[in-house]
Amino acid sequence: MENLLNNKVAVVTGSGRGIGESIVRTLADAGAKVVVTDIDIATAQGVADDLCSKGMEAKAIKFNVADFENMKANVDEIKNLFGRIDIWVNNAGITQAAKIEDITTEQWDKIQSIDLKGVFFCTQAVIQIMKEQNYGKLVHISSMAGERGGRSSSPSYSSAKAGVLNLMKCFAIWGGQYNITSNAVCPGRTVTQMAQGLSWLHDPKDDPKLTIPLCRFGTPQDIANAVLFYASDLSSYVTGDIMEVNGGLYMTR
Ligand SMILES: NC(=O)c1ccc[n+]([C@@H]2O[C@H](COP(=O)([O-])OP(=O)(O)OC[C@H]3O[C@@H](n4cnc5c(N)ncnc54)[C@H](O)[C@@H]3O)[C@@H](O)[C@H]2O)c1
Repeated sequence: MENLLNNKVAVVTGSGRGIGESIVRTLADAGAKVVVTDIDIATAQGVADDLCSKGMEAKAIKFNVADFENMKANVDEIKNLFGRIDIWVNNAGITQAAKIEDITTEQWDKIQSIDLKGVFFCTQAVIQIMKEQNYGKLVHISSMAGERGGRSSSPSYSSAKAGVLNLMKCFAIWGGQYNITSNAVCPGRTVTQMAQGLSWLHDPKDDPKLTIPLCRFGTPQDIANAVLFYASDLSSYVTGDIMEVNGGLYMTR
């Protein structure tokens, strides 16, 4: 797999830590030049410096997926780092554990802004670049909650993630004529900093040995492996697709 992404440029949003960090490291391992982007530049810079110290090509840039006013200028700046963008992974996201009866309009809007509107407007900016290149791989990180409804995460989160799956298909339908594929990965329960605030990580009733067919929670690397497939030409005739990476929880929940 070492040369799978040679000569490709990959950008991952929210890749300073967690699932995004694993994705960006995996794409770099496969030979891509990578741009590590995050609202938290310190973490992004740390990841990029580490990749460079291992002989890979990586740059870090501060990028807020909800900065809609400057979106085109910011995405153009990212493109100028390596001169093109072949792979764009919409990974950045936030969650909330708020219950239906407690959720406020402010909480609702914040989630929608980053998790759904951010995906649309980032992609709107990058898809123009991919169209000119007649090549592009879009990968979107949705969630099992986007398909099944949220239990530990709030309805604002699960509905935003459901929206991501619909957008993924809109981009796939439009992008095909320009050799752009668009696919989504739906992680199940994956141990990251985000998961620390969710009940399944702490509740004995959610013990993975009892609830998940593969008997463990997911790791960021499990998600990154699925992204690698959609980001590479191994998936050149796959678009509008969803990969479930949840250890089989999808069947038993
Ligand atoms: N962890 C899980 O169990 C799980 C399950 C399903 C889906 N997901 C999805 O996977 C993705 C990554 O989640 P994670 O668990 O690694 O979370 P995380 O909180 O550990 O990491 C998220 C990263 O996104 C960055 N970020 C947050 N807001 C941003 C913004 N406005 N612009 C740019 N960057 C921003 C953060 O700084 C952080 O580096 C998210 O979209 C999340 O919804 C996670």
